[in-house]
Amino acid sequence: MKAVILVGGQGTRLRPLTDTIPKSMLPLVNIPFLEHVLKLLKRYSIEEVILSAGVSLDVFKNYFGDGKEYGLKIIYAKEDEPLGTAGAIKNVEKYLDDSTFVVLNGDILTDLNIARLVEYHKSKKALVTITLASVEDPTPYGLVPIDDTGKVITFLEKPSQDEAITDLINAGTYVLEPEILSFIPEGINYSFEKGVFPGMVKRDEGIFGFSPNVYWLDIGTPQKYLKAHHDVLEGEIELNFEGEQIKPRVWVGEDCEISSEANIFGPVVIGNSCQIEASATIFGHTTIGNNCIVGPGAAVSESVLFDGCKVNGASIVKRSILGRGVELDARVHIEDMVIAEEKVKINNDNFNHRLAEEKLDDRSR
Ligand code: GDD
Ligand code: MG
Repeated sequence: MKAVILVGGQGTRLRPLTDTIPKSMLPLVNIPFLEHVLKLLKRYSIEEVILSAGVSLDVFKNYFGDGKEYGLKIIYAKEDEPLGTAGAIKNVEKYLDDSTFVVLNGDILTDLNIARLVEYHKSKKALVTITLASVEDPTPYGLVPIDDTGKVITFLEKPSQDEAITDLINAGTYVLEPEILSFIPEGINYSFEKGVFPGMVKRDEGIFGFSPNVYWLDIGTPQKYLKAHHDVLEGEIELNFEGEQIKPRVWVGEDCEISSEANIFGPVVIGNSCQIEASATIFGHTTIGNNCIVGPGAAVSESVLFDGCKVNGASIVKRSILGRGVELDARVHIEDMVIAEEKVKINNDNFNHRLAEEKLDDRSR
């Protein structure tokens, strides 16, 4: 079976990280997110994956190549202009054949059993089956109430609080019959969520919802991105990552120098070639990328450091994300969802409020 993964969005809510790395290539426990998705697909007998990307394919191509290493065939499809979630599928029609296929949003962390989803789809003789998740606040998602038979009653993208009549939302994984392609206009921006699905409901075409009881998270905001790390490190979803367990729930990569006087409290993942110096403290739910240095007296907790970060003496990083090559001088204190942009250098004695204010100014310009 073939699968199309949508990875052409702008990742606006994860800026500035996504200014240089597409959302689906952001690291999750030091492995590009999409690699985890590909492994899930492989587990459920998907043979061919079409990556529907935006303007730039290189970062994907350079990493995944033809897909052989993952036991998959990967085809790359470019869009000169964003075509929307459904337009993106029309754009890859030539790579699809006359059989049932799967479409996935490229920012969903899940352990969904795709075989069971496809089985359900076939049993309903559906044209489209939408996987559903149950969430506390449905307003940032597509609302999908279903009837007793699983049929979708309505599809409402980003409902208001008043419109939220169910907690079931579109989980961003679909099984589609090839007929669907004729519902999508060619060459224009068109979405499943505002175009194809509401139209099918209106015309009473076979559109069903499948509600599995599995782990589900959209990683598309800083809070959710950190939550994804938390949940993986807590084992709430089983995901492979690298490193040798040097003490309970502390995984360390190759060629690291970890001082015997450093304090590390799991769950923590540390990449390759890192240096953790004496009296540095790393608290749980932290992932440190490759080639990072955590200096003497520095403390890092509940955070994600991308590759090549340097946290110098007595600096504190809490519940924050440091992009590639970020350097904190001495006694820098950042906490509560600061996202430090790639290669930014933060001077001595800086406190995150100043940083956050500067960032807000930048955003409002
Ligand atoms: N190729 C391509 N072209 N991909 C796109 C485009 C496009 O024009 N626009 C978005 N995508 C990709 C994104 O990269 C992402 O992987 C996926 O489509 C969904 O886009 P998001 O921007 O993450 O949408 P969302 O999270 O606000 O809402 C979607 O996902 C929710 C579940 O997480 C919708 O499908 C909601 O209905 C759903 O509940
Ligand atoms: Mg999303």
